[in-house]
Amino acid sequence: MRLAFFLTLTLAATLAAPNANLFLEDTTQDDYHISNIRANYLEAYVICKKSGYTLAMERTEQETKIIEALIESQNVEITYFYLGGYNEATNFGKQWFWFDINEEINYDHWYSAIYKSSDCLLRTPLNSTYAALTLAATLAAPNANWFLEDVTQDDYHISNVTASYMEAYFTCRQHGFMLAVERTEEETKIIEALIESQEAVNNYFYLGGFNEITQFGTQWFWIDINLGINYNHWYSDAFKTSSCLERSPMNSTYGGKWTSGSCTPKYYFICQKAVTSTQIL
Ligand SMILES: *[C@@H]1O[C@H](CO)[C@@H](O)[C@H](O)[C@H]1NC(C)=O
Ligand SMILES: *[C@@H]1O[C@H](CO)[C@@H](O)[C@H](O)[C@H]1NC(C)=O
Ligand SMILES: *[C@@H]1O[C@H](CO)[C@@H](O)[C@H](O)[C@H]1NC(C)=O
Repeated sequence: MRLAFFLTLTLAATLAAPNANLFLEDTTQDDYHISNIRANYLEAYVICKKSGYTLAMERTEQETKIIEALIESQNVEITYFYLGGYNEATNFGKQWFWFDINEEINYDHWYSAIYKSSDCLLRTPLNSTYAALTLAATLAAPNANWFLEDVTQDDYHISNVTASYMEAYFTCRQHGFMLAVERTEEETKIIEALIESQEAVNNYFYLGGFNEITQFGTQWFWIDINLGINYNHWYSDAFKTSSCLERSPMNSTYGGKWTSGSCTPKYYFICQKAVTSTQIL
C-alpha cells in the first residue's frame, strides 16, 4: 500500500508553529477536507500543511462519527485514507502519536494489534469488509523521482531557525529543497565547510536520514531520494536505533558524527537543492 488518499483537518493555530502551540477546538465536518488525489504519507503531510491544514486526527468516537459522515457524504467508502497517526521509534521502543499535536494515541480504533507494527496510520475502507478500522502502513519515500547531480556548497541552505523533523522536511520542500543527504566523504567535506562558514559548529542538525519501520525490522534511508543509507558516519551503532538522523555538533566533543533520536525536538536543519525529473509538489 504505497499511496492512499488522505484526510486533513483545519486547526485553530497558525502553520508557523505546528507543534507545541497547536490546540484543537471542537471540530465539525466543515473543518475537514478529503483529498481527491493519492499521495504517500509525507506528500500528504506537505500538501495539508501548504493549505493550512494538518493530517486529520481521530481521537474519540465523536471524531470517528464526524469523519465517517464525511466519507459517506463523499461516497468514498471503498477508499483507504492516511490520517496523522505516526509510529515513532524511540530508544524505549515504538510509540504511536498524532503527529501535529505531539500527543500519544490512546483511542483504540485498530483493526487488530497485529496491524500496528509499521510507521503510518492508515484508515481502512468504511465498507463492510474493513469497517473503517485503522492499521499501519510503511512510510513510502516520497520521491522515487528525485535524483541528485554533483553538489557544491551553493546547493545547500542551513536553517537559522530550529524545527522538528517534519517541520524541517516541510520547510525544505516548500522552498524547492529537500533535507540534505550525506553519502560520501566528499559530501561530508562540503557540509562541514558550510557549517564552519556559518559558525554553527556547536549546533545539531537534521539531515534527511530516516529509520523506517518495516515488517522485517528497521532500515535507514535518505527520505527524499528513497535510497538506503550505506555511508557509515555514525558516532556508534548504539545510537542508530531511533527514528530520525541527527548530525551532532562538529566541535571537539562530538566531531559531527551521526546519532539518532526522536523526531519531535527542534534542531537546526540543512536543506539541499535537488533536481527532479517529475516535479511532485
Ligand atoms: C471494500 O473496499 C475494498 C477496497 O477498495 C474492496 O477491495 C472490497 O471489495 C470492498 N468490499 C465491499 C463489500 O464492497
Ligand atoms: C533567518 O534568515 C532570514 C533570511 O535571511 C531572515 O529574514 C530571518 O530574520 C532570520 N531569522 C532569524 C531568527 O535569525
Ligand atoms: C559542543 O557542542 C555541544 C552542544 O552545543 C556543547 O554542549 C559542547 O560543550 C560543545 N563542546 C565544545 C568543546 O565546545
